Amino acid sequence: MIQRVVAGSSELDQTIEQIQEEALSAIADAKEMEQVNTLSVKYLGRKGVVTMYLRNVSSLPPEDRREAGRKGNQAKKAIEEGLKAAACRLSSKAEEKAGADAIDVTLPGRPAPAGSLHPITHITRRICDIFVKMGFDIAEGPEVEADYYNFEALNIPKNHPARDMQDTFYISENIVLRTHTSPIQVRIMERYAPPVRVVAPGKVYRCDSDLTHTPMFHQVEGLLVDEHISFGDLKGVLTALVHQLFDEHLSLRFRPSFFPFTEPSAEVDILCVMCRGKGCKVCSGTGWLEVLGCGMVHPAVFENLGYDTTRYGGFAFGMGVERLAMLKYGINDIRLFYENDARFLRQF
Ligand code: FA5
Ligand code: MG
Repeated sequence: MIQRVVAGSSELDQTIEQIQEEALSAIADAKEMEQVNTLSVKYLGRKGVVTMYLRNVSSLPPEDRREAGRKGNQAKKAIEEGLKAAACRLSSKAEEKAGADAIDVTLPGRPAPAGSLHPITHITRRICDIFVKMGFDIAEGPEVEADYYNFEALNIPKNHPARDMQDTFYISENIVLRTHTSPIQVRIMERYAPPVRVVAPGKVYRCDSDLTHTPMFHQVEGLLVDEHISFGDLKGVLTALVHQLFDEHLSLRFRPSFFPFTEPSAEVDILCVMCRGKGCKVCSGTGWLEVLGCGMVHPAVFENLGYDTTRYGGFAFGMGVERLAMLKYGINDIRLFYENDARFLRQF
């Protein structure tokens, strides 16, 4: 084409001008940097249209060379400027686009949500800490438990009416979800000779559900066996626990009760913190909330396990952790603990 273009000077002028015009309009239409680069190669590259044109100027007749060279260089310059302007236009557009989704490093970071201990875990640890300071060890036992440990070894034979006190989930005839942490007492006494002093926290299960009952809840069991142990020791230990746990001398009362594995037995109520004894929904208008059962270990339990009842005596207790947590944190519905509402759980 160039060969043909450079054949005559009038045709040549028109053609280099056409080339320039065509190049500039293509450059103005370019939407991507890549198109600009391609056009640069097409017109100004080593074998580009304008480059070839200029190379051929020297083969023109001497009288035409000057004018052809001038026009060629002018076209080259115009195209170079067009390319530069296009590159500038497209790169500022790219920056603008990047700016829209760029990260502002001066903004404060968004903290990843951190978990925290469940209030029941908190209070269970607190209770255990208080007992550890009084010299108790910590023990655990299985949640799926043999009927023998949950009932029989605790002086609750099959068909004993006391079984009705706890609505039991049966896995099979002889396997239950433990209804209390008391089976751990039996497991401890099977393995260790007296003296023993343990607390055992854990989950327990009963078919039960209302403002103060959930089908799964937590207890902390306590067992102390030694020589010369009296009901006074039991009262002292539990009073110390309540006073330390609540950081105040909250009133507690021992009410006579019945458990087949303790004699005498008692239930302990503490003054309802919600109403300070006036009576409210949480304490069913009584002003007190039952938090634990306790008593002196029944000799039948000791005899079952081969403990010498002439030498040793002891006490045991089992406390409801959720009940203590409700009083400690002023929560009026036990079910809030298990609804997993982060707004509730975050407060502890
Ligand atoms: C017992 O479970 C006996 N094992 C306690 C015991 C241990 C007595 C050692 C003597 C010696 P009780 O069924 O009363 O006792 O339950 C103890 C405590 O668990 C209650 O005082 C109450 O605070 C809590 N509790 C009972 N049922 C529920 C429930 N469904 N939801 C939440 N807390 C409960
Ligand atoms: Mg009870």
